[in-house]
Amino acid sequence: MAFKSCSSFSLVFLAIIFLATPAASTVDLCADADYKDLCRAALRGITNPATGTQVAIKALISETQRSIVKAKRFADIKKDKIAKVCMESYEDAIYNLKASLNNVRDNDKGSLNSNLSAAYTDFLSCDDAYSERGRASPYGRISTHLQRLASNCLAVSTVLRR
Ligand SMILES: *[C@@H]1O[C@H](CO)[C@@H](O)[C@H](O)[C@H]1NC(C)=O
Repeated sequence: MAFKSCSSFSLVFLAIIFLATPAASTVDLCADADYKDLCRAALRGITNPATGTQVAIKALISETQRSIVKAKRFADIKKDKIAKVCMESYEDAIYNLKASLNNVRDNDKGSLNSNLSAAYTDFLSCDDAYSERGRASPYGRISTHLQRLASNCLAVSTVLRR
């Protein structure tokens, strides 16, 4: 009898583990991200789609702000006019990313997609400005990093928009 109740307890316990484990492990906001390691490092196990989207966007805003400081320093030293284009496109990206945060707060999924896509395009503008003039962008590595973060923001936000 004691054995019987013990084993049925174990079965219930196992059933709970079985039911609980797959549900917990399927909440991976970075599953569709092209840069999963970068995405997971930014989200640190967050499973709520709205929170995850906000955290990813905020990380990109602060990374962009740091890049603007670098770009300004470069523009001052080298008197590079194209660097001004980069700064403006980064500023515009921040504007669009802040709008995206409002969209998450207001649960406005259509605008969220538009504003995040606009931010992603802003990050391509810097490299484009150089390549149109046949020059290699001095911001190549920064741009690539920001483009990846923006791509991840879009991927995480698709979980929210489902
Ligand atoms: C971006 O978000 C703002 C709200 O913050 C909204 O007014 C605007 O229409 C959105 N832009 C696009 C292109 O959807």
